Amino acid sequence: MQIETVVGAIQDQRADAIVVNLFEGVKNPGGATGAVDAALQGKIRRLIAQGDFRGKAGEVAVVYPDGQIPARRVILVGLGQASEFSQGKVRHSSAEAAKKARDLGAANIYTIVHGAGIGGLHVEQASQAVVEGTILGLYRFRELKTEKPERPDPGRLVLVDSDASKIGAAGVGARRGQVMAESTCFARDLGNLPANVLTPVKLAEIATNMAGITGLKTTVLEEGEIAQRGMNAYLSVARGSHRPPRFIIIEHSGAGSGDAPIVLVGKAVTFDSGGISLKAREGMEAMKGDMAGGAAVMGALRAAALLGLPLRVVGLIPAVENMPGGGASRPGDVVKSLMGLTVEIVSTDAEGRLCLADALTSAGDYKPQAIVDIATLTGACQVALGDQAAGVMGDPSLVESLRKAGERSGERVWPLPLFEEYDEQIKSQVADLKNTGGRGAGAITAGCFLKRFVRPGLAWAHVDMAGMSRQENGTAITPKGATGYGVMLLSALLGDWAAK
Ligand code: BES
Ligand code: MN
Ligand code: ZN
Repeated sequence: MQIETVVGAIQDQRADAIVVNLFEGVKNPGGATGAVDAALQGKIRRLIAQGDFRGKAGEVAVVYPDGQIPARRVILVGLGQASEFSQGKVRHSSAEAAKKARDLGAANIYTIVHGAGIGGLHVEQASQAVVEGTILGLYRFRELKTEKPERPDPGRLVLVDSDASKIGAAGVGARRGQVMAESTCFARDLGNLPANVLTPVKLAEIATNMAGITGLKTTVLEEGEIAQRGMNAYLSVARGSHRPPRFIIIEHSGAGSGDAPIVLVGKAVTFDSGGISLKAREGMEAMKGDMAGGAAVMGALRAAALLGLPLRVVGLIPAVENMPGGGASRPGDVVKSLMGLTVEIVSTDAEGRLCLADALTSAGDYKPQAIVDIATLTGACQVALGDQAAGVMGDPSLVESLRKAGERSGERVWPLPLFEEYDEQIKSQVADLKNTGGRGAGAITAGCFLKRFVRPGLAWAHVDMAGMSRQENGTAITPKGATGYGVMLLSALLGDWAAK
């Protein structure tokens, strides 16, 4: 989608659709909406007076100008209660307006910057949210459909502001929003691709291509090299599948990159059958999305490169398929990790932590200032937090940085404790530790497990996004299927980091 910013009056724009807004309960719109209403001789006020439009968040109505203004139609979108207004509401409302515009066949959308006026948001934040909502809301996964969609996507989005002094900041926000949202859509595509298409080899190819376009560096380790380095915990997962693993390393070296890097580690199990500890058949198709952490890391690096963040960032993605083939681990097997710790594999379905363990240890090679891993790691985390927040645990200051980044980006995280007493649950009779911790505190014992593989003294946090990777019902900004969760969270974290 082509995105532009222009100085002007929204009612003067020759557009397929112009978008204006209304807070809930407002009877006499002011600002840009008021100007459009005046040009339309009170059509919007009549709609409100009639009770046909209340301004609920995301509510949309269409008004036809009959030649009173050059636009072919006016889309009125609700922003909800002024007291509950936020960037999130802007995303939501922008998404609904954009979907309406598409349904009506609009090829271009001219919109005011919701929230930059009486909403009281900074224009940069507001325009970022408008663009994010528009792109995320319009997303659909059509790659494997042979038929063209009934309605094509609008090709152009124009942000219109009458205040020339705001337009620079609006442009900066719009650009950031576009990069964030398109990087999220990139991660969504990966999550939606089936496992027969998106194999570890394919994921590495996509990473390499993406890196070539955006100016990132990639290194891809094949099985021999993974074995040579001693990443046996990770390798043990790969052994059950005919599809070989790929350890993907992506590096962004922005300005001032003499500094120690931030290492992002993403779980990328292209399909999680459970292995010999086979999963139940119901819903197993969703496990094609078990690479969502890796996709989030890829998306975040894409965004870091395109935004030119003045940071060094390294992404480590141990891609693998978890299958019950002849080479698969058996419950009870013991493997020796890169850290040197021996692990008893009680369940081959707790495969993510085995891959992450070796990746986290190798993250130490980069002498990082921080390590953050993100993974669809435990059903227990999904049970605890549902689809409203990912679990986060680890270094308190990193956890707090992630919490803030989550709040701002709309991709929330919520802390869980790693009390040392939980370590009891992952003690093994035969090895240094085992890969499952029993029924209680499943998300936490997974975190405790990972912690053991981080080289001492390094700041590390773990994000369990098991509940966030897929939407069964869809929301305004996330259609059914892969959400691309984590790209905006990690990008916001990196953005904050670059600014400090
Ligand atoms: N990939 C799953 C976790 C998951 C569950 C992700 C639901 C997304 C939605 C993970 O590999 C897994 O199977 N975890 C087990 C761990 C258990 C065996 C200790 C789980 O949560 O049941
Ligand atoms: Mn599993
Ligand atoms: Zn898994």
